Amino acid sequence: MHTFEHIEEARDYILQQTDYRPTIGLILGSGLGGLAGEIEEAVVIPYGNIPHFAQSTVESHAGQLVIGKLEGKVVVAMQGRFHYYEGHSPASVTFPVRVMKAIGVQDLIITNACGAINESFQPGDLMVISDHINMMGINPLIGPNDERLGVRFPDMSAAYHPELRALARKVADKQQIDIQEGVYVSWSGPAFETPAEIRMMRIVGGDAVGMSTVPEVIVANHAGLRVLAISCICNMAAGILPQPITADEVFEAAGNARNKFAALLKGILQEV
Ligand code: HPA
Repeated sequence: MHTFEHIEEARDYILQQTDYRPTIGLILGSGLGGLAGEIEEAVVIPYGNIPHFAQSTVESHAGQLVIGKLEGKVVVAMQGRFHYYEGHSPASVTFPVRVMKAIGVQDLIITNACGAINESFQPGDLMVISDHINMMGINPLIGPNDERLGVRFPDMSAAYHPELRALARKVADKQQIDIQEGVYVSWSGPAFETPAEIRMMRIVGGDAVGMSTVPEVIVANHAGLRVLAISCICNMAAGILPQPITADEVFEAAGNARNKFAALLKGILQEV
């Protein structure tokens, strides 16, 4: 459980490290962490130094906040995120979103790696998330509601901001990147889904499945942030192809799509 005071302590610590006042937040998932290395005049703050931040345990995620300029915009980037499957509480997973809001962020851009439920997608495709189905079995807003942070019952009918989605499609068009758009289903993991679970997700309208993003998006909407989320399709979900899914193929596909993904994000930053 994190309190308003915890958020203030983390905010104050971060603002003491830099004169930058970012209005755009980035959560960089698997494969895209390297983009944080392109942030200019960067101030790097390891999560371990920030009051009340958790520690990232996933090898492919660095675990630091990077604040500086990217494409002329002042950004705060999470290089590595916290996942529920690591054992972090939903409150810890989403605490950085609260802190971003507290330091002045208005727009949150989230990236992730996911598997394709939609059989017309291919590994390497990028997908703008249009909506989600929460199958993680948790909601980070469960518990007492602090009205200073948001309302008890936040609206989720446009959780992924329509203008930002349109901007992402426009930039993709300009860069001649084929971009998909679809519904992201969140799964706690860490085990990948079974083929039967993927069939269920397809029946209810899912296009892609992953183990992150949805907690952060719920909290961002509670906090009144505008959200854009883009997934890298790294594999066909369980049961679509005969072979098993491996984490290595996921990381490899995320790495291969990295340049295209980074170019898209930078193009979006130019125009946001
Ligand atoms: N399922 C869940 N999460 C994922 C997958 C998947 O197939 N690929 C990458 N992240």
